[in-house]
Amino acid sequence: MSSEAGRVTSSSLPAWLLGCAALAFTALVVLFVTVQRVARHQPTPVRPANAVGDSSCLSCHRNKATFEQTAHRLTLRLPTRQTVLKRFDTGSNVLHTDHADMHFRMDADSTGFHQTLVVGNGPDSTSRTERVAYVAGSGRKGQSFLYWSGDKLFQLPVSYWTSLDTWIGSPGRVGMDPRLSFNRAVAPRCFECHASWIESVPNLTAENEYKADGAILGITCERCHASGQQHVAHERSLLRGLARDRSIVNPAPMPRERKMEVCAQCHGGLGEPRLPAFTYVAGRRLEDYVHLEPKASDEVVDVHANQVALLSRSRCFTSSQMTCTTCHDVHRPQRDVVELSGRCLTCHQQQSCPLFATRGSAIVGKCVDCHMPLQTSKIVVSDLEGSMQRVQGRSHWIRVYPDSAARR
Ligand code: HEC
Ligand code: HEC
Ligand code: HEC
Ligand code: HEC
Ligand code: HEC
Ligand code: HEC
Ligand code: HEC
Repeated sequence: MSSEAGRVTSSSLPAWLLGCAALAFTALVVLFVTVQRVARHQPTPVRPANAVGDSSCLSCHRNKATFEQTAHRLTLRLPTRQTVLKRFDTGSNVLHTDHADMHFRMDADSTGFHQTLVVGNGPDSTSRTERVAYVAGSGRKGQSFLYWSGDKLFQLPVSYWTSLDTWIGSPGRVGMDPRLSFNRAVAPRCFECHASWIESVPNLTAENEYKADGAILGITCERCHASGQQHVAHERSLLRGLARDRSIVNPAPMPRERKMEVCAQCHGGLGEPRLPAFTYVAGRRLEDYVHLEPKASDEVVDVHANQVALLSRSRCFTSSQMTCTTCHDVHRPQRDVVELSGRCLTCHQQQSCPLFATRGSAIVGKCVDCHMPLQTSKIVVSDLEGSMQRVQGRSHWIRVYPDSAARR
């Protein structure tokens, strides 16, 4: 019945109308195919040529503006009076060494921030001065400084330690002759963890040659979400309703392993690069880009810069689908230990802790204090005028620590 009706209708329509309909239909198909082709998103790591920048992202994603104050965003900056936490020019601007005739001096003037090694005393003294090019570290724990020597980048001998509010020898130079402590080359992996892009100059004899032009300092939105050029074009286009995906990398729906790797590229230890720095994009297999040596279960893992290995040892992690973002929102500063203790209660109840029986809800907000205590690093060791100083870090191995039992 219906097919007969259809035949009647079509044969009675004028040919020109049919032609128009066919044309309109073809146009629609072409349009749809084009949109889908454009929309087939190929994530590309961020570069100066394809970066849109945080301010552009934030023009639409206003609720992510808190990101600009995070440790990630602030982790590598140019030196200014705002970014350098300890004054270079007044008061305590000298660091003594365990060589009585050598000391470091910090100075700041209109030409910049400088570190000077002074050898000897009075008129016979000699010195070496280098100018700060970049400030590494948001200052949560401390700051280190980099300098140019020609086209090569090196780490300066003196760092700043926030908890002690003092100058201190840069990590890893304990016992070194101060004159040699200018020689630490800055490898690309250092920038891979602390920046979004810097151009490496291939050089068979040195891995620390760079071009300053175009460097994208600190960790920007596009370091984790890849270049946002296509996404922004797409969101501003009139056809945005038609496309299947949003043309941007979003870790939220990724499988657990891929999601962990987004953080592991920087929080899984130094590793061995397999491809040049800044080629990995979130969602790909990290192992193809950098090999992270798996840790044997009895191997000691330091609290510094390997949260992934420590968390992976926790029963919470092995017995659930937990990832780093179960607790952390990287778009906001992550310093509120009480709030973070609240995350435990997404899986546990306060009653699951045997201490609840005697202490009641006094333990709420304090879960982290006992089960993820601050611990002293064994690898980040600095020299403070002859004494050894070690940085503290938050253990990501969630478990019952014997000494917390004493706090019952
Ligand atoms: C012109 C406005 C606009 C700009 C600029 C913009 N976005 Fe978006 N973005 C949107 C809209 C609209 C959505 C979908 C709704 C939502 O998730 O908020 C979205 C979604 C997203 C998503 C989730 C994607 C998904 O698959 O669900 C991510 C991640 C994202 N944007 C990141 C960024 C980043 C990073 C930048 C800067 C490089 C950026 N956006 C710039 C409008 C914009
Ligand atoms: C490109 C490298 C990089 C990636 C990717 C990265 N981080 Fe970080 N993260 C760092 C560095 C470097 C710091 C230390 C910054 C500083 O204080 O100078 C840091 C600091 C942090 C802090 C301390 C924040 C605070 O407020 O003090 C947390 C929490 C953190 N990262 C979690 C994560 C999580 C979760 C992920 C994955 C979603 C992640 N990071 C991905 C490099 C990275
Ligand atoms: C250190 C890595 C990292 C950086 C830097 C980062 N993001 Fe994200 N972003 C993530 C992760 C991981 C998720 C998925 C979170 C989850 O698992 O729910 C995400 C999710 C999102 C989403 C989608 C889910 C939501 O919460 O709406 C948007 C939109 C987004 N990010 C925008 C931004 C913008 C804008 C910036 C810069 C201001 C930024 N991101 C910087 C890692 C990052
Ligand atoms: C494999 C990634 C990685 C490499 C390589 C790396 N860092 Fe870090 N760095 C981190 C992470 C992650 C943190 C913060 C979390 C922690 O302490 O575990 C951090 C913390 C720091 C801090 C303390 C920041 C603060 O405010 O608390 C400084 C300073 C720093 N790094 C400097 C450097 C310098 C300089 C280099 C290279 C010469 C370097 N790092 C190489 C990942 C890395
Ligand atoms: C994503 C869910 C999840 C979150 C979030 C979580 N846990 Fe767990 N946790 C578990 C599971 C599952 C177990 C294993 C329980 C079992 O096997 O009976 C566990 C086990 C534990 C154990 C026993 C460990 C051991 O080695 O015997 C402690 C202690 C613990 N959690 C404390 C915490 C604390 C403190 C927090 C917050 C910092 C937290 N958990 C967050 C899921 C979670
Ligand atoms: C004052 C230190 C302290 C605080 C605060 C604390 N715990 Fe505990 N927790 C312990 C000790 C000690 C044990 C081991 C007790 C035992 O075996 O009798 C334990 C055991 C646990 C266990 C393992 C229970 C089992 O059956 O294996 C879980 C889960 C747990 N706590 C979760 C939490 C949560 C969630 C919070 C926050 C609401 C919290 N704890 C706060 C000290 C603490
Ligand atoms: C069960 C909750 C939880 C999970 C899951 C978790 N964290 Fe944390 N993280 C914390 C708490 C609590 C702190 C302490 C915050 C503080 O002291 O300011 C912290 C601090 C940090 C810091 C600062 C380190 C320091 O020594 O000060 C970094 C970096 C970090 N987390 C990275 C990660 C990464 C990467 C992952 C995934 C491998 C992860 N976190 C998973 C709860 C968690």
